Amino acid sequence: MNKNNHQIDFKLMAAPLQGFTEAPFRHFHAMIYGSEKTISYYSPFMRVEKGETRRRDLRDISSPLNTNHMLVPQVIAAQANEFRVLVNSVLEAGYSSVDLNAGCPFSPQVHRGRGAGLLGAERALEEIADAMGQYPGVNFSLKMRLGVSEQNEWMTLAPVINRMPLTHVTLHPRTAIQQYSGELQLDHVDEFVNEVQHPVIFNGELHTPADIENVRRRFPLVAGVMAGRGLLMRPSLFVEYLTGCEWDEAKQRIHVLKLHNAILNHLATTLCGDHQVLSKIKPMWEYFAATFPRKSVKPVLKSRTLTAYLSAVAQMS
Ligand SMILES: Cc1cc2nc3c(=O)[nH]c(=O)nc-3n(C[C@H](O)[C@H](O)[C@H](O)COP(=O)(O)O)c2cc1C
Repeated sequence: MNKNNHQIDFKLMAAPLQGFTEAPFRHFHAMIYGSEKTISYYSPFMRVEKGETRRRDLRDISSPLNTNHMLVPQVIAAQANEFRVLVNSVLEAGYSSVDLNAGCPFSPQVHRGRGAGLLGAERALEEIADAMGQYPGVNFSLKMRLGVSEQNEWMTLAPVINRMPLTHVTLHPRTAIQQYSGELQLDHVDEFVNEVQHPVIFNGELHTPADIENVRRRFPLVAGVMAGRGLLMRPSLFVEYLTGCEWDEAKQRIHVLKLHNAILNHLATTLCGDHQVLSKIKPMWEYFAATFPRKSVKPVLKSRTLTAYLSAVAQMS
């Protein structure tokens, strides 16, 4: 991918969201929306726990559900040693792409120098850049914000980032202290695209096909887009964009319910007990609810048992 062929090779990516975009969502999303070959999916970040890659994270990228879509495992690390442990696990699991998280704004990670914490730790980033050089066949990418508290912090890091062997850099144009709300700092995107020598993927508040088109028009050198919450609220977002044909809300709802049911059935056969299933599936409605009338979502959110939940979902249309 380079900055000149973006027109014919515009990338579409499904963002990682801990708790939402694990293997069941990715698998059934790819299946129901036919996006096995058109979207690359990013795993929620994998991290080190007691010196080893967390088992739960390994299970996610090793799930047999991953065989129907293009998956890029993401890792979060504070320094090169942690990074190597995680990269080795990803390679052992059979992948040759690794995304590095330099954007997570949550204090427990940032205070330990992980996620957006890396943006304030140039030395650690340099060591990670060196570590990347030790894995010649691996496609590394970076997902980052503009800075921790200032919108121009990325500038100091541009030389290190340019030295990294990256396929692309995904930019969420906010600072970490903005978390996931507040104005996107769009005025910085052009400069970022000019200074960073790798192809840049735009991430943030893409909710409609028109939002994607606007990004393309305003930032013609951007090499692709990554959608997170927008894709959970409107899982047909990329299909609609690719086909140039918008879905009405009724059609969106039918497919969201299909996706929901597929995930639910899978969870029911793999998790232990109603409580576990309910606590995993119910939060999905934070986003799945987007096209449903409020009054039909309320009983779903209020349900305390799986039976009540199932009956509330059955009333939705
Ligand atoms: C609940 C939640 C979990 C997230 N988990 C991750 C993660 O594991 N790795 C990551 O790089 N970003 C994570 N993000 C950030 C998203 O990938 C994305 O960058 C952010 O939501 C902005 O894009 P959007 O406006 O398209 O949602 C998370 C965001 C949310 C809201």
